[in-house]
Amino acid sequence: MTVERISVGIPGLNSMLGGGLIPGRTYLIKGAPGTGKTTLAMHFAMAGVACGENVLYVTLEEPAENLKTDMERLGFNLSSPNLTIIDATPTAERYVLVENFFESFSEGMDKMISAIKDQFRQRYYHRVVLDPITMIKMTTREEIEYRRAFLTFVKTMTRLKTTVLITSELEKTNVEEYLVNGVIELKMFEIQGKLTRGIRITKFRGSGFDGTIRPYEITDRGIVVYHDRFISLP
Ligand SMILES: Nc1ncnc2c1ncn2[C@@H]1O[C@H](COP(=O)(O)OP(=O)(O)OP(=O)(O)O)[C@@H](O)[C@H]1O
Ligand SMILES: [Mg+2]
Repeated sequence: MTVERISVGIPGLNSMLGGGLIPGRTYLIKGAPGTGKTTLAMHFAMAGVACGENVLYVTLEEPAENLKTDMERLGFNLSSPNLTIIDATPTAERYVLVENFFESFSEGMDKMISAIKDQFRQRYYHRVVLDPITMIKMTTREEIEYRRAFLTFVKTMTRLKTTVLITSELEKTNVEEYLVNGVIELKMFEIQGKLTRGIRITKFRGSGFDGTIRPYEITDRGIVVYHDRFISLP
């Protein structure tokens, strides 16, 4: 029996995943600042929108207005009614697209979960993005508290039968990596003075995957993953 796959919106990454992600599960995208996590998350979101799905995008660091400007520059049209953006950024010039949620967000995962559940009461979302989870993790007082909250989050999302993509810029993401169903890493290397980007899948439950580090670029049409070039580390 073949497992259903959903597109992440990047052909070269879909093929690394053996066709795409397995729906209804939670995945982690990790990478240092500027590696392209938001861009990848937006490809995933817009691939859903392109096939008529509802997508909930929670932005936790980049105000929605900036996100729109930056992503529209890469050719994404964020004005679809199927896309709901929640601005949960802690900045003064926040642009709250969905009212009454902001205050509760900064407190952590539990409140994030209830805010997402409220959204699901209004309509079903096929895809959910949390970009990035870093802030929530840093504001959670105890590691054990974070673990419990993260586990509850993954369970809740599984129950909601939605596909979730979480981004994180933290080096140490053991808790998340253990609990999610798949992990994709974005890396940057300096090779002979030149910045080289590489993408790699480190975990994908329920599927085989291409474990090669593939070179990728961020172009004016977003992320392109190459299969005809290789990264040769010195
Ligand atoms: N048109 C473009 N051509 C080349 N590179 C671009 C283009 N547009 C954006 N970039 C690059 O994409 C990177 C930012 O991507 P993105 O915001 O997705 O990264 P990120 O991992 O989410 O970063 P952060 O951790 O700061 O949130 C930057 O390094 C930027 O220079
Ligand atoms: Mg980002």
